[in-house]
Amino acid sequence: MPCIEIENLTHIYFPGTPLETAALQQISLAVDQGETIALLGATGSGKSTLVRHLNGLLAPTTGRVRILDGDVADKKFRRQVWRRVGLVFQFPERQIFSATVYEDIAFGPRNIGVIGTALSERVSQAAQTVGLPDELLQTDPAELSGGMRRRAAIAGVLAMRPEILILDEPGAGLEPRAREIILQQVKELQRVQGTTVILITHHLDDAALYADRLVLLQKGRLLAAGPTGEILSRYDLLDEADLEPPFTVELTRRLAAEGLNLPQTPLNPAEAARLLAPLLKCVKGTVPLAHKKT
Ligand SMILES: Nc1ncnc2c1ncn2[C@@H]1O[C@H](COP(=O)(O)OP(=O)(O)OP(=O)(O)O)[C@@H](O)[C@H]1O
Ligand SMILES: [Mg+2]
Repeated sequence: MPCIEIENLTHIYFPGTPLETAALQQISLAVDQGETIALLGATGSGKSTLVRHLNGLLAPTTGRVRILDGDVADKKFRRQVWRRVGLVFQFPERQIFSATVYEDIAFGPRNIGVIGTALSERVSQAAQTVGLPDELLQTDPAELSGGMRRRAAIAGVLAMRPEILILDEPGAGLEPRAREIILQQVKELQRVQGTTVILITHHLDDAALYADRLVLLQKGRLLAAGPTGEILSRYDLLDEADLEPPFTVELTRRLAAEGLNLPQTPLNPAEAARLLAPLLKCVKGTVPLAHKKT
């Protein structure tokens, strides 16, 4: 069942002025409930503009966007859809203003009337989901490390218990390990609660690990959408979208150039090992794979 239906969406910023920019053109896309989608594209391709239509921040210039049970052209619906669709902005920690981490996570739910133990339960559950230790809840957000502050910002959105969770570059500027922890926790949330997740990322390795389906944007247009494995094995599309292929996909391409074709394109190191091991075992007897100490 689709929970997002986008039909011929065009968005033009400042129409009819010298600043006019066609940020999105004729985008059509449906997302099923419970799916994890990775939205990919070069800088300025329209990713952030697209997702701002999904939580009521922007309305289409032309076309139609239906979310859950409403249409974002309907102003009344647009005003309340942010409660149900959680959007974690690019660099969300810049929007943290509260005195304590607890207060910051509690801000959204408190706004919609959640109080007392229901509120504290939501805060601690959200903090737990992103791996933010309890003892940090009473500290000043300014004292947190970059990774912890990002987790606090994500927890603030999770505390709203959104049906659809959108993360705009959640790992930007973080250490690879911090990025991995955040994405693993989001994946777990998707698995346990069936939350629909839209992940914007520049890292195709992350998309390969976490997404069911990939959507590629190029200069405001939909270049391709399809199952992760299918899209990632299309080097032509990745080149066209100006995206760096995942390491294992690049390795497969280079092996093919050397005349060694793998039966399929591995999307992560574990799959690569599984596909390469039988081939390496065949040559083990004849080729010195490692130098033995004498
Ligand atoms: N608030 C705005 N006002 C005017 N133009 C904008 C605005 N936001 C984005 N744009 C323009 O719309 C186009 C798409 O921008 P958008 O921010 O959606 O791209 P993006 O794919 O999210 O890029 P990035 O990877 O850098 O975050 C760009 O040409 C950008 O300059
Ligand atoms: Mg953006």
